[in-house]
Amino acid sequence: MVKTVSSNEMWGGRFAEGPAAVMEAINVSIGFDKRLAQQDIQGSIAHAEMLSAQGIIDPQSAEAIMQGLAKVKAEIDAGTFTFRTELEDIQMNIEGRLTEIIGKPAGRLHTARSRNDQAVTGFRLWVRDTLDGIDAALADLQLAMAEKAVVHAGTVMPGFTHLQSAQPVTFGHHMMAYVEMLGRDRGRFRDARARLNECPLGAAALAGTSFPIDRHRTAKALGFDRPTANSLDSVSDRDFALEALAAASILAMHLSRLAEEIVIWTSAQFAFVKLSDKFTTGSSIMPQKRNPDAAELVRAKSGRVYGSLMGLLTVMKGLSLAYAKDMQEDKEQTFDALDALALSIAATAGMVRDMEPDAKRLKKAAGAGYATATDLADWLVRTLKMPFREAHHATARIVGLASARNIDLEKLTLAEMQSVEPRITAEIFGVLGVANSVKSRVSYGGTAPVNVKKQARRWLAQLAREKRAPR
Ligand code: ARG
Repeated sequence: MVKTVSSNEMWGGRFAEGPAAVMEAINVSIGFDKRLAQQDIQGSIAHAEMLSAQGIIDPQSAEAIMQGLAKVKAEIDAGTFTFRTELEDIQMNIEGRLTEIIGKPAGRLHTARSRNDQAVTGFRLWVRDTLDGIDAALADLQLAMAEKAVVHAGTVMPGFTHLQSAQPVTFGHHMMAYVEMLGRDRGRFRDARARLNECPLGAAALAGTSFPIDRHRTAKALGFDRPTANSLDSVSDRDFALEALAAASILAMHLSRLAEEIVIWTSAQFAFVKLSDKFTTGSSIMPQKRNPDAAELVRAKSGRVYGSLMGLLTVMKGLSLAYAKDMQEDKEQTFDALDALALSIAATAGMVRDMEPDAKRLKKAAGAGYATATDLADWLVRTLKMPFREAHHATARIVGLASARNIDLEKLTLAEMQSVEPRITAEIFGVLGVANSVKSRVSYGGTAPVNVKKQARRWLAQLAREKRAPR
């Protein structure tokens, strides 16, 4: 076993003493950046291979480095690697272990590179991998929702504005609203990924390097579209993480809104949907309770995601170019936010699959609060050719009659309605039911069951296509 070195010994020369304990404590990042181990090794392999191909290091050293890195990777995979705080970060931990394994040639790996470009390359790769995972998870959530929508394309429920009864819609339509939101969320992540996908490796500390490196080669080896064009920008920029967090924040807001609806829907007073034991918890004191904790936590986790976005924006906003150690604070909050998000997406998909809407109760609730008043007004416009504003007025008076007697619209007699508008005929009863109301909303994007089915099937087909031919 080689003796443990501190990072000060790695830069040797001018450092006669080790760091103060508190210096080490504030400086160390290995506790969290060990999550970048795989990406750091990937980057080092691409770098070493390029250095050798360019004749910058000898092939024997390159070979030793490759084998050594493979061994380090195997140790990390097996969980036998010892991460050392005295070696500060993941970059130096891996290089330190490589040195223990292969000795002198390990020192050639850091030719024409700096921890600045090395660290940001690993972080970019991690964010890219994570965005790909989020995209797949979102596709699965969309699938769960679209499948629910097909089953419940005709399940009538109340539609709200101001959380007041507005007009009947269908449960499937409500699900498909979220499918659309998630579609845009995925688009935002795709856009972020496209801008992220440039390789900073080879920018070195900040100015580039005098060695004849081939940045196009390393970029390609790491799956990047191209190398970044400016070395200062390459090591200074964290906007790829900020964009991911911004898109994550919008998504977290969408998930939080659905979570809020699930909380409302599962309350005894609404009882619109049921969640099984799998997604509820009981109370230690109130035996009747079934708490929608997963939904509440999805709603709450949005706070972490927004917090991370604000946190990283604040870290970055005062930094002069190029690298500053402040930027080490880019990782924890990004990890935390994207972890919370992944959990939220999976929990939401679980709840959506688990959720059973109570069709009878939903239908009853859909008619409450005179939700078909607009249908009555529309009938007056269509059949009696009344101007809409006038029809609105007459309808309000008819609703007033029903409301004064505390009965539903369709429980009024024809004579009562005719007392407001004498030309009303018995045909009116055909439009006052909630099922007919939703059936009539056939305008593009409207809630008619035929529309909902069509939209849900369109998405299901698209999701299946994506699955067959992933990006
Ligand atoms: N652990 C550092 C980070 O993530 C790596 C870069 C350190 N560079 C430096 N010049 N100190 O930011």
